[in-house]
Amino acid sequence: MSSTKLALFLLTPTVFIILSLNPVSPTTEFVFNANFSSTNLLLFGNATIQSSIITLTNDSSTFSMGRALYPFKIPTKPTNSSSALLPFSTSFIFSAAPVEHFLPGHGFAFLFSPHPGMSGTSSSQHLGLFNLSNDGSSSNHVLAIEFDVFKNQEFQDIDDNHVGLNVNSLTSVASHSAGFWDGEDGEEEFKVLKIVNGVNYQVWIEYLDSRINVTMAPVGRRKPWRPLISEFMNLSGVLVDEMYVGFSGATGQLVESHRILAWSFSNTNFSIGDALVTQNLPSFVNSKGSVFGSEWFIVGVSVGGFLLVGSGVLVLWFVVFRMKGKKKNENEDIEDWELEYWPHRIGNQDIFAATNGFSEKNVIGFGRNGKVYKGVLAGGIEVAVKRIALQNEHGMREFLAEISSLGRLKHRNLVGLRGWCKSEKRSLVLVYDYMEKGSLDKRIFECKDSMLLSWEERILVLKDIARGILYLHEGWEAKVLHRDIKASNVLLDKDMNARLGDFGLARMHHHGQLASTTRVVGTVGYMAPEVVQTGRPSVQTDVYGYGVLVLEVVCGRRPTEEGKPGLVDWIWRLTERGELVSALDVRLKSKGGYSMEEVERVLYLGLLCVNPESQSRPTMREVLKVLEMKGDAPESTDDEGMEVNLLEKMKATTMLSKYRWNFGARGHPTFEEIRGSHSSLISLSGSDIIRVGI
Ligand SMILES: *[C@@H]1O[C@H](CO)[C@@H](O)[C@H](O)[C@H]1NC(C)=O
Ligand SMILES: *[C@@H]1O[C@H](CO)[C@@H](O)[C@H](O)[C@H]1NC(C)=O
Ligand SMILES: *[C@@H]1O[C@H](CO)[C@@H](O)[C@H](O)[C@H]1NC(C)=O
Ligand SMILES: *[C@@H]1O[C@H](CO)[C@@H](O)[C@H](O)[C@H]1NC(C)=O
Ligand SMILES: *[C@@H]1O[C@H](CO)[C@@H](O)[C@H](O)[C@H]1NC(C)=O
Ligand SMILES: *[C@@H]1O[C@H](CO)[C@@H](O)[C@H](O)[C@H]1NC(C)=O
Ligand SMILES: *[C@@H]1O[C@H](CO)[C@@H](O)[C@H](O)[C@H]1NC(C)=O
Ligand SMILES: *[C@@H]1O[C@H](CO)[C@@H](O)[C@H](O)[C@H]1NC(C)=O
Repeated sequence: MSSTKLALFLLTPTVFIILSLNPVSPTTEFVFNANFSSTNLLLFGNATIQSSIITLTNDSSTFSMGRALYPFKIPTKPTNSSSALLPFSTSFIFSAAPVEHFLPGHGFAFLFSPHPGMSGTSSSQHLGLFNLSNDGSSSNHVLAIEFDVFKNQEFQDIDDNHVGLNVNSLTSVASHSAGFWDGEDGEEEFKVLKIVNGVNYQVWIEYLDSRINVTMAPVGRRKPWRPLISEFMNLSGVLVDEMYVGFSGATGQLVESHRILAWSFSNTNFSIGDALVTQNLPSFVNSKGSVFGSEWFIVGVSVGGFLLVGSGVLVLWFVVFRMKGKKKNENEDIEDWELEYWPHRIGNQDIFAATNGFSEKNVIGFGRNGKVYKGVLAGGIEVAVKRIALQNEHGMREFLAEISSLGRLKHRNLVGLRGWCKSEKRSLVLVYDYMEKGSLDKRIFECKDSMLLSWEERILVLKDIARGILYLHEGWEAKVLHRDIKASNVLLDKDMNARLGDFGLARMHHHGQLASTTRVVGTVGYMAPEVVQTGRPSVQTDVYGYGVLVLEVVCGRRPTEEGKPGLVDWIWRLTERGELVSALDVRLKSKGGYSMEEVERVLYLGLLCVNPESQSRPTMREVLKVLEMKGDAPESTDDEGMEVNLLEKMKATTMLSKYRWNFGARGHPTFEEIRGSHSSLISLSGSDIIRVGI
């Protein structure tokens, strides 16, 4: 034996031993066939295992998110820091099903992640992958294949049923409507697959020679020849040496179930998808037509169980009611009282056609009272259609009386009401002009930089809305209160004109007549203290709501945010410390376009409107006067011919009434007390304070 041979002989077992002792195998392969458990997976957030199936989100609540990961980090490169990547092939079977009483959303993704856990992620449209601030950051090192059922404009989603290839961002590198190419090479036909219908689908994801392919098909079909997505991409900068693989899903206001039934993965075997068992899988398809699922069946059974005779009556009543309802629908009977409101009535069929039969695809928003759909009327007129469920016919009549009057309100800063229609099942449909640019809240709170409104645009919006409210309060034969002024009720048309929408809560009040006390309506954070106490709305309570709007538009902050003091209180506190202008939205500070005097003036205007003392609040006419001033506030002349700066007047009035409120229990404060508490008043004399007012 030569010395070289001897060396080899001695070396070989050593190398073998080193390799077999190395705990990290250079490749990975595993198969799960409905045998998931909390011991062979890592679960985070709301992910659970139910009957050996992964359930990523909790479908009985909103805003849920969860992750299920293979328990070990897997190598992605042949050697650490190599620029080459290991190929991989993975396949899984999923089901996403709608949940009763909810619109479906948001989706789930297969992902490679450098970390376990869910830190830095949010629910809803962020799919539990990223959050608002890290979306798009190259330090995420996340590759995700998303199955997304909501069309998010902010991520340039192509539709509400798509598969997307995402690198470090929710904005997909490539995406395609969900579906598959059926048939042989050259003769394929694309067939759409609806992601959220409970059907079990198999997905294949392969990466080889810098090309990633994503394919899907209904379970049981062989893998389609042509992939849904096929993209060349160099993932070497994206994937770190070792990564976690698995699934992430999220719901928000929209809820659906996200289940993973089986999963396989291999770096070497590109037929590993064949290892998935596709037979005898549970089905999560909702049998909608089935009587067993219906509430009526449950009512029938429970009543029947306890009271046989009663149930007979109930069934009889139900049948009669149903038949009557049906007949009426077919003829679209019009009752006398309905004719009274005829001018704005739009045909049932027209609305149905305009919204594709109230298709979920057309949903553009959710109001307090119901969903809002986009529709296109004959002639191509775009409209927003609001569907409202009513308690009873009596309510309907009252409501129509109101709508018929509101339909006559026309102003460029109000969303135009085009008409109404009564549809089946005691629901009422309101048809409004369509507002291209959506609602204001989407452009001042958490939003992409490109959506953010500039200072000038915000002031224009505030002026527009002030004009709209002024018209409601004074511009018409009857005084109309809005009662729910807030950013999400402000809509922007195609020219960015702001218009006040949602008159659902408005009640008519003839001039001089006191508004009747009804149950409290409005939105927490926008309600004046006296509304909370007495439930009685007034012109001043609308002014209060407008004041909150001013503050949120200037500060870019919602009136109530978790873990933070209320917006109004926070601004009062800043004012007392003389730091009011620091409330300005930080995102505006780099952009400029404003003067500090103007910011201060608008903030004081907001504060004046949210004054706890309702009689100290300005009227909308006064508000508009302040807003329409250009640049520095001009000097005005008071009764005695003295020049008084408007801003100083506002400050004084604001502070005076606030302190009167604070000192309410023991009467008015002395002038010294006020002056001691607020330095800006030092320049004014006592008599000024008593006489100030805009
Ligand atoms: C799950 O089932 C597959 C076969 O269907 C088997 O290969 C695998 O080892 C099982 N996994 C676990 C963790 O039991
Ligand atoms: C989801 O998980 C979070 C924290 O992981 C928890 O706070 C929340 O209550 C869970 N929600 C549901 C519906 O289980
Ligand atoms: C889902 O959420 C509901 C309500 O929040 C809770 O009662 C239930 O335990 C949760 N289910 C799971 C599986 O976590
Ligand atoms: C790669 O680096 C990790 C530590 O970052 C180490 O645990 C692993 O063993 C290394 N893998 C190889 C193949 O050297
Ligand atoms: C997003 O996550 C990061 C951690 O990755 C965190 O620092 C940041 O505050 C989060 N942002 C939001 C808006 O939640
Ligand atoms: C990906 O799809 C392309 C185009 O159909 C095909 O040529 C390629 O072989 C596929 N790659 C893998 C790994 O299947
Ligand atoms: C991928 O990018 C890395 C640098 O990020 C480079 O070293 C490597 O050659 C690229 N691979 C291919 C196949 O282009
Ligand atoms: C790859 O996996 C499939 C499915 O489990 C199996 O039938 C096949 O024998 C495997 N091929 C190799 C080369 O291991």
